[in-house]
Amino acid sequence: MNNPLSGSNAYLSPRVSVIGAGNVGKTLTQRIVEKNLADVVLLDILEGLPQGIALDLIEARGLEQHDRTVFGTNNYAETANSDIVVITAGLARKPGMSRDDLVHINAKIVTEIAKKTLIYSPNALYLVITNPLDVMTYLVWKATGISPQRVMGMAGVLDSSRLQTFIALELDICTTDVTAMVLGGHGDLMLPLPRYCTVRGIPITELMEEGTIARLIERTRNGGAEIVKLLQTGGAYYAPASSACLMVEALLNNQSRLLPTAAYLRGEYGLEDIYLGVPCRLDRQGVGNILELELTTAEQEAFHASASAVRKSIDVALNYA
Ligand code: 2OP
Repeated sequence: MNNPLSGSNAYLSPRVSVIGAGNVGKTLTQRIVEKNLADVVLLDILEGLPQGIALDLIEARGLEQHDRTVFGTNNYAETANSDIVVITAGLARKPGMSRDDLVHINAKIVTEIAKKTLIYSPNALYLVITNPLDVMTYLVWKATGISPQRVMGMAGVLDSSRLQTFIALELDICTTDVTAMVLGGHGDLMLPLPRYCTVRGIPITELMEEGTIARLIERTRNGGAEIVKLLQTGGAYYAPASSACLMVEALLNNQSRLLPTAAYLRGEYGLEDIYLGVPCRLDRQGVGNILELELTTAEQEAFHASASAVRKSIDVALNYA
């Protein structure tokens, strides 16, 4: 099948390339087209997999009432002129594994993807999902050599959505009335911030006992592992795909949304040369600016502990990239 997104048929509508047609990649592709946000080029190394998923998704267009194109391919040239490149390819965790256990395999994979996609989409924004997230985002930035403003990672939106859900369930309240904020690395040392979690503006510290909050924070930290344990065959993908889709929409539609995002720090929060989850304004240029919250001493220490763990993992990953 010819690529409807290339040559004279090229549409002017936004284009997102999703690299990796696994559960996250295919679900994200579905979310993007069925929200009518962009056309998608879905790439995978497996012959037939992205092509089959693409054909299946476009055969639902009449029912889902959109006319977005999904093109499945194994050829990087077909990802040309992407506005956003989403990288979700790589090994997923198995029960008992930490995200850092994936470094040695995924470092090489994301580095190669970054270099190959940049050839065809020199102006693209990069959104990384592959784990360990903060480390892989750093490697993509290193491999592309582009402005760090154009390279970001999806994790804080997912972790915050999990905490938002757990708070809503605990209080038996509508989830959309809850806001949650989780910063730091996407791992065991992530930093949920209860005082920035509210129900219609009311801090949850006024609505729940400390012990309850601690329990929900612990469940958020283990959110990914809880699903890996239940599924046994891989990690979560519905909520990760929804989280990435929210960020894609904010970028494409220049929404200036304030979202927890793995972003490159150049002195913010007292940290340099690292990717870590912080509140960012996302717009068509990528990471617009980084909001520096006033952290308590305890929060600052926890944030820096999270940063040290990510830094160590980056130093390991650079040997495999
Ligand atoms: C998670 O937390 C996949 O890292 C992702 O589920």
